[in-house]
Amino acid sequence: MSGQGTRRRPEDLRSHRWFGVEGLRTFGHQSRIKQMGYARDDYMGKPLVAVVNTWSDINPCHYHFKQRVEEVKRGIWQAGGFPVELPAMSLAENFVKPTTMLYRNFLAMEVEELLRSHPVDAAVLMGGCDKTTPALLMGAISMDLPAIFLPAGPMLRGNWAGEVLGSGSDAWKYWDELRAGTISEADWHDIEDGIARSFGHCMTMGTAATMTAVAEAMGMTLSGASSIPAADSNHPRMATAVGRRIVEMAWEDLRPSHILTAASFDNAIRCLMALGGSTNAIIHVIAMARRAGVDLDLDRFDTIARQVPVVANLRPAGEYLMEDFYYAGGLRALLAEIADGLDLDCRTVSGATLGGDIDGARTFKPEVIRATDDPIYGEGSLAVLRGNLAPDGCVMKPAAAEARLHRHAGPALVFDDYATLKANIDRDDLEVTPDTVLVLRNAGPQGAPGMPEWGMLPIPKKLLRAGVRDMLRVSDSRMSGTSYGACVLHVAPEAAIGGPLALVRTGDVIRVDVAARSLDMEVAADELARRRQAWRAPPPPYGRGYGAMFARHIQQANDGCDFDFLLAGDATPEPAIF
Ligand code: FES
Repeated sequence: MSGQGTRRRPEDLRSHRWFGVEGLRTFGHQSRIKQMGYARDDYMGKPLVAVVNTWSDINPCHYHFKQRVEEVKRGIWQAGGFPVELPAMSLAENFVKPTTMLYRNFLAMEVEELLRSHPVDAAVLMGGCDKTTPALLMGAISMDLPAIFLPAGPMLRGNWAGEVLGSGSDAWKYWDELRAGTISEADWHDIEDGIARSFGHCMTMGTAATMTAVAEAMGMTLSGASSIPAADSNHPRMATAVGRRIVEMAWEDLRPSHILTAASFDNAIRCLMALGGSTNAIIHVIAMARRAGVDLDLDRFDTIARQVPVVANLRPAGEYLMEDFYYAGGLRALLAEIADGLDLDCRTVSGATLGGDIDGARTFKPEVIRATDDPIYGEGSLAVLRGNLAPDGCVMKPAAAEARLHRHAGPALVFDDYATLKANIDRDDLEVTPDTVLVLRNAGPQGAPGMPEWGMLPIPKKLLRAGVRDMLRVSDSRMSGTSYGACVLHVAPEAAIGGPLALVRTGDVIRVDVAARSLDMEVAADELARRRQAWRAPPPPYGRGYGAMFARHIQQANDGCDFDFLLAGDATPEPAIF
């Protein structure tokens, strides 16, 4: 029934150290709580639950959190807890530059230290926009207090001219049509009006929907929470249920360390593959696992990818959107479809097991959630490639690429940075053919810095006009989970630290073979050695501040891009209260 099997007493609560002992400091804590209008009965002897809220006026994905946090608090009060809202960095994917990935670890640190420094017994983590989910969970895993993740929920379907629009995916698609001249500027602005018509996170199977589903499969949300559209009245009901449940978890002392195991991360990876989810999830799941002390690496993803078919028929790999997925039965139904491969004994925040949580789940629309013997993609939704261009690995999403590019060789066209690419990609005199392999480097964790989502390199305009819609592209950056195409990503080590990607030159032949899981450049070893001798590291982008610290401590993509000093290790001491 509990984390350790024993129900806690009020004097066992962490907050008791702030409120329950006599002394001058306690007087300060009591009087200042009372300053906010609370009476002793409101908080004494009750679990203090932090509601970590990533709302902001510039995060449309979390725009409903101002209201939702009240619904979480309602549940906490109902169950006899004391709610305290703690605002945290919002990380709006579209607005934060150069990339939210630069700040994922910043938010993770903020969450961990918010929880550590305050009189917190348990936490509700409110997030959903791409990096907020892994960041909130990484911080909570490291602090290891009872915690539930409350997903923001996807926004409603987009609409334009009778077409259903999906976040990101249709923006990329119609941007190419605009550049090819097949839609007008007026059409483009109408698409702008219709593609994001409610609060909530992106409603394709992008990084947000992938990561909230991963959080659920890991056991860190209440069952079914990740699929509920943000604007559906089931969402506030779920928020209140989370509030009630977290109070019980505080008494049970059910912590992330009691839930997260190698088996629960395997469940998360199986879920990721069955969804045809975002490549970004690979980085985030490795980071979360290593915070939890689970030694996860890229090869585990490739192994599981070969075993699990894609059964979610969701864009960008499939046809439908998250609203359809919810009506089809949601993640509970998908997990029930792939239950044979899951470890159903893994614990979840419900206090029960994953098997118990999905018991009775049904699929209502088999065209959206397919059976495992009728998948939209047989196996290998994501593939891990290695070779002389990526000795530490890179990833690709074959399910979202034209099949002819799964095995391809062509001459490289190399761009040293994104600014150069942007300035030249649409030139009419660009020497490029459909067989060319576009290469972008210095776009990794250190190089860009922060590893932005530049990996879906734009197709050159002259080829778009000729009808080309996919090409082989290779980079050390990431791509949005809503993106698609034959994009080889996360090449490690990255070019900025001297990875082999730094040595490739325009005209070198690059060869990819997804079935063989290989990525190589056809350049003789002695020539590569000569190029390495001549290579010079680019100057560091930041000389001071957070950026300088980031560059000193960021790990490579295959290691999860966490800071080296934040990995699991010796417990951090509790703060002294004098
Ligand atoms: Fe927030 Fe896509 S922009 S989830």
